[in-house]
Amino acid sequence: MKILMVCLGNICRSPMAEGIMRHLVEEKGLDWEIDSAGTGGWHIGEAPDPRAIATAKKHGIDISRLQARKFTYRDFGNFDHIFAMDSTNYADIIALSESEQERDKVQLFLEAADPNHPTKNVTDPWFEDRLFEPVFQEIREACGKLLEKLAGN
Ligand code: 4NP
Repeated sequence: MKILMVCLGNICRSPMAEGIMRHLVEEKGLDWEIDSAGTGGWHIGEAPDPRAIATAKKHGIDISRLQARKFTYRDFGNFDHIFAMDSTNYADIIALSESEQERDKVQLFLEAADPNHPTKNVTDPWFEDRLFEPVFQEIREACGKLLEKLAGN
């Protein structure tokens, strides 16, 4: 299974989602590939935001060595599931698709984890330091549910 987490900058939400999901998948002993990307290219090559690194570290997850990259058309072919952190990311990914088969791979992250989740977008914590912790927790909870669904148990 190959999973891609996508947000805007690939320095806050999706690297946290990548780190958490990889951690959970490894705990389960699954040999899955987890990656992340951004729909925007401003931070290509950069490590995650220091606040995202610190928040993940506090919960025992090291994302300090990840490097931001931009989502590309090739990702449709390279991944089984593409999870968008918010509806703008979702629309930007869909705009690059060329077939139904590609579009079928793309889902809103929170909705895929739990169709009854009260919100459909993971809040962008970029402008508010205090949001990193609740955003991390929301992503972690959703990753757990998503993994259960994808692993079929
Ligand atoms: P992310 O957060 O999409 O969760 O990585 C952002 C990071 C950077 C910017 C916006 C959102 N930015 O405008 O540079």
